[in-house]
Amino acid sequence: MRHFLSLSDAGGDAIAAMLNDALERKQARAGWPKGRADADAPLAGRVLAMIFEKNSTRTRVSFDMAIRQLGGQSIVMEAGQMQLGRGETVADTARVLSGYVDAIMIRTDDHAKLEEMAAHASVPVINGLTDESHPCQIMADLLTVVESGRQLPGLKVAWLGDGNNVLASIVEAAALLHFDVVAACPQGFQPEEGAIVRASGRARVVADPREAVADADVVVTDTWISMGQAQAETKLRAMMPYQVDAALMAAAKPGAAFLHCLPAHRGEEVTPEVIDGPQSLIWQEAENRLHAQKSVLRWCFGQIG
Ligand code: CP
Ligand code: NVA
Repeated sequence: MRHFLSLSDAGGDAIAAMLNDALERKQARAGWPKGRADADAPLAGRVLAMIFEKNSTRTRVSFDMAIRQLGGQSIVMEAGQMQLGRGETVADTARVLSGYVDAIMIRTDDHAKLEEMAAHASVPVINGLTDESHPCQIMADLLTVVESGRQLPGLKVAWLGDGNNVLASIVEAAALLHFDVVAACPQGFQPEEGAIVRASGRARVVADPREAVADADVVVTDTWISMGQAQAETKLRAMMPYQVDAALMAAAKPGAAFLHCLPAHRGEEVTPEVIDGPQSLIWQEAENRLHAQKSVLRWCFGQIG
């Protein structure tokens, strides 16, 4: 049984195979009505349960459409409306849901809850974002980069701003797929040291935003205040020099791509001219959540890799 809690659960070869599968499936159904199932309906009869402990637009809708396009069905639940929200344990919830559905996706504040779900479920469990990581987002980001005609090995990715869950998954991907990440983060908001060490030399943290973007093929940022974090003026002030503006994009490789997992805060982590400008791939990136996750689901059911 395969859980997708982190990118390492799949490994570099399977991720590459998933990206190929996603590209092929996306092309094969181009122009079709969104609700029509893929011709082979490879997950017909399968049901995915989704549990949300935090808000979501993209993850919720893209997973729902992903399982439908694969021929399956979904059940979407808010944790607060489940007995989970009244203290039923994650372990008991995992055991019960395993008797009803074929896979579980959970978005939770605490990574330990995801691990507990996986430890007690007898069906695949997928990480739909935790405070530590967001592997499904990075699958979509990798797909977007490949689709733009760039090769992953040898690529240079610049990260600006908060050393958060999304960065942690990019760093993990770098080691698995042989590209380099340079993250410019202010003092006190750097990623966890262990994540950088595990990247085996593929990731480093700098203080200077210009150093991060120098020669970068892809420039990435995210909200400065993640879900569950307090809105702190001191943090916003510390982040301001790391805002991705036109001058910073001009210091990257000519034509460098701009990515942002969304939701975005224009005027904070990125200026409107960048996020809504010609180098921004954010709409393809958001759509690719759907295509990438179809391949993640297929991998979980042993159909890829
Ligand atoms: N990028 C992302 O995960 O978006 P949602 O929070 O809307 O799911
Ligand atoms: N870092 C953000 C990502 C949202 C998709 C958060 O955790 O809120």
